[in-house]
Amino acid sequence: MEGDLERILLSRQQIAGRVHELGQEIAQTYKGGESDGITLVTILSGALIFVADLIRHLPFRMKIGLITVSSYRGATTQSKGSQLQQDLNVQVTGRHVLIVDDILDTGGTLRLVRERLAVCQPKSLRTCVLLRKPGKAPPDVQAEFVGFDIEDKFVVGYGLDYNDHYRNLPDIGILRREFYAIT
Ligand code: IMP
Ligand code: MG
Repeated sequence: MEGDLERILLSRQQIAGRVHELGQEIAQTYKGGESDGITLVTILSGALIFVADLIRHLPFRMKIGLITVSSYRGATTQSKGSQLQQDLNVQVTGRHVLIVDDILDTGGTLRLVRERLAVCQPKSLRTCVLLRKPGKAPPDVQAEFVGFDIEDKFVVGYGLDYNDHYRNLPDIGILRREFYAIT
């Protein structure tokens, strides 16, 4: 699998260090909010590994919600628009909600999830992404917590996939061009 990468962009050590820091930033923001209830809404499948590591750095009581969104990339690297595949499995009305996703690219996925959650009237709504490709998402779809800003290349590993492969790579790397199908 590693051989399919052009190069490693973020090593497992870099990721672990930053996830730890993000946990501290989030803990600081939600200090005292525990009594109102905090729910982390994980966007599947990409944020699966990130959220598992992140929550072990969060020292407060919380619930986890899951929502599945497809950005219809399939065997391409281009988003063909985001669509809800499996709706949210928990109630979030009146709770502090933190959306967790792997990467903020065009912002289509985050916009969809934010709109879906807003109708539930959470007490607050924030977003944490591990990666962001700067300048691509519109100003009204932004994340409060960002792990790394990266160049505009297609990346895989640590939960991020190409056609559902490579999620289990421990590092994040740029996929070699010859492994992309024609888009
Ligand atoms: P957006 O809707 O364009 O912001 O894209 C967000 C979703 O597309 C993420 O949740 C990822 O699942 C996927 N995605 C965007 N960029 C990449 C990438 O470089 N590698 C793998 N998946 C990506
Ligand atoms: Mg995703």
